[in-house]
Amino acid sequence: MRHDDRIGRGPGRNATRISANGDAPQRKQLPMKNHAWIVAEPALGAYDPKCLQWEEREVPEVREGHVLIRTKLLSIDPTSRNWLKLDPATTYIPIAVGDVMIGAAVGEVVESRAEGFEPGDLVSGMWGWEEYSLATPEYLQRHDRDDRIPDEAYVSVFSHIGRAAAFGLMEIGRLKSSDTVVVSAAAGATGSIAVQLAKAKGCRVIGIAGGEHKCRYVVEDLGADDAIDYRAVDVREALAEKCPQGVDLFFDNVGGAVLDAVLANMAWNCRIVVCGAMSQYDLPNPDAAYGCTNLHLLMYKCARMEGFVAGAYTGRYAEFDDILRPLYIDGSIVARSHIVDGLDKAPESISLLLDGKNNGKLMVRV
Ligand SMILES: NC(=O)c1ccc[n+]([C@@H]2O[C@H](COP(=O)([O-])OP(=O)(O)OC[C@H]3O[C@@H](n4cnc5c(N)ncnc54)[C@H](OP(=O)(O)O)[C@@H]3O)[C@@H](O)[C@H]2O)c1
Repeated sequence: MRHDDRIGRGPGRNATRISANGDAPQRKQLPMKNHAWIVAEPALGAYDPKCLQWEEREVPEVREGHVLIRTKLLSIDPTSRNWLKLDPATTYIPIAVGDVMIGAAVGEVVESRAEGFEPGDLVSGMWGWEEYSLATPEYLQRHDRDDRIPDEAYVSVFSHIGRAAAFGLMEIGRLKSSDTVVVSAAAGATGSIAVQLAKAKGCRVIGIAGGEHKCRYVVEDLGADDAIDYRAVDVREALAEKCPQGVDLFFDNVGGAVLDAVLANMAWNCRIVVCGAMSQYDLPNPDAAYGCTNLHLLMYKCARMEGFVAGAYTGRYAEFDDILRPLYIDGSIVARSHIVDGLDKAPESISLLLDGKNNGKLMVRV
């Protein structure tokens, strides 16, 4: 079970209340300056943190219908790297040069002019890479304080990460307890939750991860039945040996050569859940993209391959949280956090994901 004594209660030190008649809030307790990461240029080719620029700005005024949030934790995601390409083909969130970079985050409301939000509320959602950020209620979730759930969990299990694992396995993958499930990037944020959830549902689970240390973590800590180190062995051969009856469900986070190896090892009616394509996000040029050679095998195996974005199913978040919460609270699902201190480190921390140097859900403490 998780416990974090650092969770405070009630309005934070900087919280500002709005009077009942809607008078302008007292801002004197807030700092004057805010720091933000601004998109300076599209990140084309291999990722370079210089695509983002550090700026000092005023703390924004709270407009009607908005909430001012003090950011506590910022989620650093593979998709942050994709969004920075500013390419409509890979970016479903519209950001442009000159905008504040955005991402998933956890914070505390310091001023509110939106119904249902009060200073001191713990919220998660999507807002700017800045110390103080304005958000509107449709991008926010308010959380009752619960000593069993630390702030970090709202950027891992109870965020797009855990929800992608739950939605991908259960809905897209139509998980059955009799399935042999394979998960790529199994030691990572999303993969680790997918491994544990599939195990909790009674499946046989094989994790694929980079390096002996991560593979040991996947088996010994996450409870997978076996693991494959894709950096050290031929994944196609290893799968044929470990899954002689074939793979029933593949929860794919990396795409490329690993996906191709699983395509060659599918069971009849296999389901391939395209959660991500980590191996294809940071190519030096578009010609370097991996061309899968085994896609036609989907036909012979009457198999199905389907992608999804958890953020497209916000209306169903509560449903996925209800699946994850009891498993998290009873310890069946453990979410390891990799915390980098300081908002100023956010752009460079993306490289940890691209190099596989993160151990757990990557986040920045602001
Ligand atoms: N569809 C959705 O709604 C949704 C939501 C959340 C995340 N995702 C996707 O899920 C995937 C994992 O994201 P995450 O946030 O959980 O990150 P993560 O798994 O914690 O970190 C990324 C991991 O990817 C692996 N990796 C990096 N480069 C690779 C390469 N060239 N080939 C194979 N593996 C590589 C590394 O692990 P190793 O050291 O093991 O290689 C790295 O630790 C991403 O593709 C992301 O886009 C999708």
